[in-house]
Amino acid sequence: MFKNQQIAKDVYYVGVNDRQKHKFENMLPLPYGVSYNSYLIVDKKTALVDTVDISLGDIFISKIQSQLEGKTLDYLIINHMEPDHSGSMSLLRKYYPEMKIVGNSKTLSMVEGFYGVEENTLEIKDGETLSLGTHKLHFHFTPMVHWPETMMTYDETEKILFSGDAFGCFGTLDGTVLDTELNVDRYWDEMIRYYANIVGKYGSAVQKALKKLTPLDINIICSTHGPVWKEYIAEVVDMYDQLSRYRTQEGVVIVYGSMYGNTELMAETVAQGLAEGGIKNIIIHNVSKSDASDIIRDIFKYRGLIIGSPTYCNELYPEVESLLRKIEIRGVKNHVFGCFGSYTWASAAVKRLTTFVETMKWVSADVTVDEKQGLKTENYNSCLELGRQVAVLAKKTIEEIEHCV
Ligand code: FEO
Repeated sequence: MFKNQQIAKDVYYVGVNDRQKHKFENMLPLPYGVSYNSYLIVDKKTALVDTVDISLGDIFISKIQSQLEGKTLDYLIINHMEPDHSGSMSLLRKYYPEMKIVGNSKTLSMVEGFYGVEENTLEIKDGETLSLGTHKLHFHFTPMVHWPETMMTYDETEKILFSGDAFGCFGTLDGTVLDTELNVDRYWDEMIRYYANIVGKYGSAVQKALKKLTPLDINIICSTHGPVWKEYIAEVVDMYDQLSRYRTQEGVVIVYGSMYGNTELMAETVAQGLAEGGIKNIIIHNVSKSDASDIIRDIFKYRGLIIGSPTYCNELYPEVESLLRKIEIRGVKNHVFGCFGSYTWASAAVKRLTTFVETMKWVSADVTVDEKQGLKTENYNSCLELGRQVAVLAKKTIEEIEHCV
């Protein structure tokens, strides 16, 4: 009964939308949902590229059955083993027991580890080809984008790159899967959020993958999440290139923790200094209210970061400390920094923030502001000056910033 959307000759979209899940990986909110994309190639031999999350396995199987019309499924190609894509493998095997599972050695080891499957597998090597008849598939290993087994499959016949998570984003596909038929505006920030939070640690692996893919003539990118890219291929590839090199836009993110409003008032004042310094993109996050994934997205997007924290139990405010770990883990580069804090009887927050920026090897403003109890005139003016100094730094080019470090 399903009318699957055709992507190219013999190639059909059989993925699903998830509008139920609240948090991806039980961590990242899904305000616009998420799609798990899967693609079916119906040639002399039939091949499915990736599966979907098991929560939608039944509808997924029905879509495949509708398209195959009684034909068997010869191959399941696995570009990525994370269970949002491999989760329906065991269910699929019940319907198509002869199906061969195609993957690299790391993939097949995970197939056994996650699902206990050892038989009916086909191990392929980097650069190897699999012919389905008309369609010739080339396998390109792209390890650590963002798991060790990740690879991409290139259909030389239709010039389609099945890219796994790469170039994917959060957000369901409403009525159609093609970027040519969608208003894609809402996907850009969700692509940055996806990249920053999930792939962000692996910038150098993404750069290697992009270089490896450069010789390919690509007409269509079929990712495992979000739209099928035809019209915006240059934009999504450029976005991945910029993000993986930690290239940022002019703008400053202020993140603060505050229990009673004193540190918050400092944040507002620093923002005023930034605006006086000519910064138009000023994003302020209350660390206790904004979701961490949105904060990380904006840090990947903008060049400047200013963090403010009260001292709490002679440490940083815990939510701010948690954010620092998220930034450190991702090895975020090419940023300019400023910090401020407040305390009631003993100061610790600003010291920790100063150590943090040394670890990150970012360029830092000369001014730091550390206020005892309520904000007073001298430090009010220092907050303005902190904003103005970071504004000057954030207007530098990436090359100038790299030169300063
Ligand atoms: Fe969409 Fe890495 O899983």
